[in-house]
Amino acid sequence: MNLASYASHQHEFPAARWRADFPLLQRSVRGMPLAYLDNAATTQKPQPVIDSEARYYTEINANIHRGVHWLSEQATLAHEAARERVRAFINARETCEIIFTRGTTEAINLVAQSYGRAKLGPGDEVLISGLEHHSNIVPWQMVCQQTGAVLKVAPIDDTGTVRMDEFRRLLGPRTRLVAVSHVSNALGTINPLAEMIALARAQGVPVLVDGAQAVAHTPVDVQAMDCDFYAFSGHKLYAPTGIGVLYGKRTLLDAMPPWLGGGDMIRTVSFEGSTWNDLPYKFEAGTPNIAGAIALGAAIEYLGRVGLQAVAAYEQELLTYGSEALAAVPGLRMIGTAAHKAGILSFVIDGLHAHDIGTVLDTDGIAIRAGHHCAMPVMEFFGVAATARASLAFYNTREDLDRLVQALRKAVEMFA
Ligand code: ALA
Repeated sequence: MNLASYASHQHEFPAARWRADFPLLQRSVRGMPLAYLDNAATTQKPQPVIDSEARYYTEINANIHRGVHWLSEQATLAHEAARERVRAFINARETCEIIFTRGTTEAINLVAQSYGRAKLGPGDEVLISGLEHHSNIVPWQMVCQQTGAVLKVAPIDDTGTVRMDEFRRLLGPRTRLVAVSHVSNALGTINPLAEMIALARAQGVPVLVDGAQAVAHTPVDVQAMDCDFYAFSGHKLYAPTGIGVLYGKRTLLDAMPPWLGGGDMIRTVSFEGSTWNDLPYKFEAGTPNIAGAIALGAAIEYLGRVGLQAVAAYEQELLTYGSEALAAVPGLRMIGTAAHKAGILSFVIDGLHAHDIGTVLDTDGIAIRAGHHCAMPVMEFFGVAATARASLAFYNTREDLDRLVQALRKAVEMFA
């Protein structure tokens, strides 16, 4: 079923049934049933993911790639099976193109410090967009400082959409890398990646995509997308914290120097010098988050049963419902109104500080995020210090959004 035809059958998505798989969503908060609308910050975990982590520690805990004993063999097999699950999930060509990291931030830093530091020189340029998370700004600022390269920023317009005329203009002969988000965490804008990547490709410029806010909400195919690097975090994908992924094209990864040095990433070590292991281990120094990687595999397997196409369509329907309902709250202004958006509702209300909104909602058991969302330049562009942000997952329902709107109306009556 394609997205359009699915959209006309929204009532069929069994959100309540899937929600039952998430123990934390069954609890009450401040004496109220929990309405968890902070999924862009982190998602809750379904029982199969929690079981996977517990099973690892109760049944097969051992260090991997090292031991000759049975437990180590089992742990290694499970860890590498998880890598293969990630490969299939994003349709990478080869399993060795999947590097486990602590999360998106570490993945981007890896590319900045390995690829960037080796390739960039004085006057070279890195092109990002005006809606990036700090994690896709600061690593580039750091490597620019180290190499003399220059950071260029394609600005956004009043809807929170990247200005493609500016993107085209800034993609110049000195551009050595483009780094853009798939979905903006602060605004929900979905970037036109196909167009951005085609433009960069035409100039032979590699593209890194920050997929932290996308992978749990829409199917991703890195080969079809033709990006060079794709980074994401497990914890936004119903998996534990402290595990993430860097996908990179093998030809690029092979040519890149290691970033972190230590165990597992070496082939030989002597005091005169060392040689490096093959991919992906060259980039995985030290004992990794073995349980986390295995649980990430479990999350991907679970999400496969839910069905990402159905999730994408359902969350779009919730987004439309929530946007319309919020628009009717007196004094509310939506921040981020791009034509293509994922399930993120960022807003301000006249006379109410975002943190006060968050606190009032919390007393009703409604969890949202208030602040700059690690995207201070976006806040600056819109002339606000902070926004209140409700962010959706497939276990959310219209009832969660009704409660949000009702509590906001109450807050407006009380304070505004
Ligand atoms: N980047 C995460 C967010 O947007 C933490 O909330």
